[in-house]
Amino acid sequence: MYSVKLLLLVLPSIFLNSSSAAKLGVVQTEGGKVEGKSHRMGLFQTVEVFKGIPFADIPGKWEKPKPHPGWSGTLKATKYRDRCLQVTLLQKETHGSEDCLYLNIFIPHGRSVSSNLPVMIYLFGGAFLLGASNDVAYLGDSLYDGKEMADRGEVIVITVNYRVGTLGFLSTGDARLPGNYGLWDQHAAISWVHRNIKAFGGNPDNITIFGQSAGAASVSYQMLSPYSKGLFRRGISQCGVALSPWALQRNPMALTKKIARKVGCKTTNEDAMVECLKMSDPIGLTKAVPVCLPVSPPGPVLDLLELSPVVDGDFIPDEPSKLFHHAAQFDYLAGVNSMDGHLFAGVDVPSINKKQVNTTVEEVRSLLAGLTKEKGSAGVASAYSTYSSHWGSLPQQEVIKKTVADIETDFLFLVPTQIALQLHAANSSGARTFSYLYNMKTRIPGFPGWVEAEHAEELQYLFGHPFSMSIGYFPRHRDLSGYMIAYWTNFARTGDPNTGNNRVPASWPAFTKHHHPYLTINHKISKSSVSFDLRSEYVNYWTGTYSSLPSVTAHTSP
Ligand SMILES: *[C@@H]1O[C@H](CO)[C@@H](O)[C@H](O)[C@H]1NC(C)=O
Ligand SMILES: *[C@@H]1O[C@H](CO)[C@@H](O)[C@H](O)[C@H]1NC(C)=O
Ligand SMILES: *[C@@H]1O[C@H](CO)[C@@H](O)[C@H](O)[C@H]1NC(C)=O
Repeated sequence: MYSVKLLLLVLPSIFLNSSSAAKLGVVQTEGGKVEGKSHRMGLFQTVEVFKGIPFADIPGKWEKPKPHPGWSGTLKATKYRDRCLQVTLLQKETHGSEDCLYLNIFIPHGRSVSSNLPVMIYLFGGAFLLGASNDVAYLGDSLYDGKEMADRGEVIVITVNYRVGTLGFLSTGDARLPGNYGLWDQHAAISWVHRNIKAFGGNPDNITIFGQSAGAASVSYQMLSPYSKGLFRRGISQCGVALSPWALQRNPMALTKKIARKVGCKTTNEDAMVECLKMSDPIGLTKAVPVCLPVSPPGPVLDLLELSPVVDGDFIPDEPSKLFHHAAQFDYLAGVNSMDGHLFAGVDVPSINKKQVNTTVEEVRSLLAGLTKEKGSAGVASAYSTYSSHWGSLPQQEVIKKTVADIETDFLFLVPTQIALQLHAANSSGARTFSYLYNMKTRIPGFPGWVEAEHAEELQYLFGHPFSMSIGYFPRHRDLSGYMIAYWTNFARTGDPNTGNNRVPASWPAFTKHHHPYLTINHKISKSSVSFDLRSEYVNYWTGTYSSLPSVTAHTSP
C-alpha cells in the first residue's frame, strides 16, 4: 500500500523529467559557467531562460563598458538584475543601479537540444531616459519576456540593458565627455552575444537586432556605426530611426551646462565643470534631467527629449544621414504605428483628447510653429497649408484633432523612417529592405474614437502576450500576435519576412530604390494589406518644400 502510493508520487515526476529533458543545463561562457531555468511551453517544447548574465563589468562613470573579469563556480542565472540607474516615471525619484550591464537569454527546445538557431537581440525604448530589458511587469511576466516569441518563432531571444539618462548620454561634444555610453553598452552586448551564443545553441552569423522607439533609433545607430561590421546581419526599427528629430543631440554642451547648474557645478570654466560633474553624486546627476512630461511644457514636448546620442567622431563618425553606406550590408525592416505621435500630441495640444473642448486653428498653428522654429514664419505657413489642405471650409472637430496627431506622427516618426528606408534601399547591394504601417485600433480605454495605434502598442503582440495571458485578449489579438511573430522571426531566419518556419497571411514585397510598398499590419492581413508610397504627399512636403526653405538663425535658449 505504502509503496504503491510512493510509486504514484514518483511516476509523474519521472514522466515529466523524461519528456522535458531537452535543456542545456550548465553553459560555459567566456566569463564562467551559467545555469538557467527551463519553462514548459507545449508537450515537447520548453524554453530555457538565463536571466542576468553580465556582458561587461560595472561601468565607470561616462566611460566605455569594460570586459567582465569573470567568476568561479556556476552563476545561477535565474533572476533579472537591476535596471540602469534612472528617474522613475514621474521623475521625482530614481531607481536602478550603476551595476546594470546584464542580458537575458530565451532559448526554445523541442525533443532535443537546439543548435544553430537564429538570434534576435532586443533593445528597449524609453527616450534614452528610461527603460530596462525586463520592463513593465504586469500580471507576472515583463512586457519584453521572450518566451512566446522564442517558442513560436524558433529563435533565441535576448534582451539587454544599456545605460540611459545622464549616465548614458551626457556629452560635452568633445573628448572630455564624448557621449554615447549607452550605445557602446549595446555594442558590447551584441559583441558578447556574437562571441558566446554558439554555446547556447545560437548561430553567431545569424543575429538580428530589433528595438522600439529609442531602441529602434539605437538599432539604426548600431547599423550606421563602422564598429558593427560583421557583428550582426539584420536590423528591425519599430517607430524610431537615427534620423528622428529626438534621436540626435546637436548641442550637447548647452545641455551639459544646464545639468551642471542643477547639480551645483560652476559652468564658467568648462574643464572645472567636467571635473565637478565627475565628482557629483550619480543619483543627483540622474535626477537633474530637465523633463516634466505629465505637466504641459512651454514648447513642444520634443524639445524636452534632450539626452540622446551625439555625433562623437568615433562610434557615430558623422551626421547619421551620411552614414548609410555602413548600413548597406544589413537587411532592414522598419515601420511606424499609425498614431505614434498621439501621445506627444496629447501633451502639446491637450484639447485633442477632450470631447467637450474644441481644438482651434490657432492651436494647430502654434504646434507647427514650435516644430518648425528653424524655418521661421515661412515654415509655419507652408506646413499649415499642407496639413489643412484637405479640411474643406468647415472642418469637423474630429478632422482637426486627428490632423494634430498626424503632424506629430509624421514629424517625430513616420517621415524620418521613410527617409531611412529610402537611404537604406538606395545604398544596399543585395541586402533587403521592408516597410510597414501598424494600425491595429488602440486597446487603451478612454481615448477618442479616431485614435488608431498608439506608440508602443505593437509590443504586446510581438512578445506574444495574447497567448501567455488570456485575460483581456480575444482571438483577433492572437491572430495579430501570430502574424507579427511569424513575419519578424522569418525575417531573422532568412532576411525575408515571408520565408521561414512560420506561415504568413500575405506576401510582403520588398521596398526598393524605385518601388515603395508597405504592409499594413493589424488582425486582418490579406493581399489587399499591401499598399504603396506611405503618406508620400507629406513625406515629399517635409523632404522637399520644407527642407528647401531657408533656415532663420535659430535663437536657442542657453
Ligand atoms: C541562418 O539560419 C538559417 C536557418 O537556420 C540558415 O538556413 C542560414 O543558412 C543561416 N545563415 C547563416 C549565414 O548561417
Ligand atoms: C547612400 O548613403 C549616403 C549616406 O551614407 C547618402 O548620402 C547617399 O545618398 C545614399 N546613396 C544613394 C544612391 O541614395
Ligand atoms: C465646436 O466646434 C463646432 C464646429 O465644429 C461647433 O458647432 C461647436 O459649437 C463648438 N463648440 C464649442 C464649445 O465651441
